Amino acid sequence: MSSEKEKTTAPSSSPSPSVDLCKSINGLDKVLLRESRGSSAEVYLYGGHVTSWKSDHGEELLFLSSKAIFKPPKAIRGGIPICFPQFGGLGTLDQHGFARNRFWNIDDDPPPFPTNTLSKAFVDLILKPSEEDMKSWPHSFEYRLRIALGPGGDLMLTSRIRNTNSDGKPFSFTFAYHTYFSVSDISEVRVEGLETLDYLDNLQNKERFTEQGDALTFESEVDKIYLSTPTKIAIIDHEKKRTFVVRKDGLPDAVVWNPWDKKAKAMADFGDDEYKHMLCVEAAAIEKPITLKPGEEWKGRLELSAVPSSYCSGQLDPQRVLQGS
Ligand code: BG6
Repeated sequence: MSSEKEKTTAPSSSPSPSVDLCKSINGLDKVLLRESRGSSAEVYLYGGHVTSWKSDHGEELLFLSSKAIFKPPKAIRGGIPICFPQFGGLGTLDQHGFARNRFWNIDDDPPPFPTNTLSKAFVDLILKPSEEDMKSWPHSFEYRLRIALGPGGDLMLTSRIRNTNSDGKPFSFTFAYHTYFSVSDISEVRVEGLETLDYLDNLQNKERFTEQGDALTFESEVDKIYLSTPTKIAIIDHEKKRTFVVRKDGLPDAVVWNPWDKKAKAMADFGDDEYKHMLCVEAAAIEKPITLKPGEEWKGRLELSAVPSSYCSGQLDPQRVLQGS
């Protein structure tokens, strides 16, 4: 992407110096967020899709496939696709719903946020259904998405979805922030916070099982929907000595996905060996769909941080990471 000639213009919506709008691959609009200490994020208006999140050392923290296709209607492979109004194949819509392959707009006048963000590096996006969308999902909604970088480099996504139906009808949806984390070697990664929980196994007709007591490790394909999960999950990358902490609110479920070698080969927009360097841990609302009456709003929040960790030097106590101490 760096070889791409990018034309930068001042954003129409946000006067902040840390936010820029530019043209990127295939002329797609991209917003660049930069925090004063050096962390950054990139967001495509196509899909309302975060494709990059870098630490203040410039290190990429999200996985983006080298074969990702930046051409509608294909969703971008990697980063943080938004699954709405349907997760996976759980309904009549195309896989993962339509939000990830629609053009979002910059929201010039978002309603105020109840919580004051310290960040100056943020962008507000909005998605409303087209007439075509209403044919497959006959509901009127306003989906507002704020993507912000915290002063310490944390990446925060807040979704606010409102039912704007004028026919008095409620609607229901399922949802996920389909985050692709970049990991050094999948076989060296542990996920903590999901042990002992029930999950639906997508590889076994969504049958329900209970996870055993140990942290999750990976040695083959995984595609599970963990139910009623805690608000914090840790992804510990031994080789990188880095821990991602996922904090979520309004999102009880968590999907863990890695396609492994066979499925990787079957995906046109994913390198054969790239499964070794990614892990999806997706904050989601799946088991119990969200129902909104006209005028009601739902909020789902994701906060990602990357902290140094080292088992070798004994600095990391995963329990403390999970407890946030
Ligand atoms: C995960 C699903 O969330 O997304 C998997 O649980 C699916 O079943 C994966 O394969 C990728 O989906 P897609 O549509 O982006 O290829």
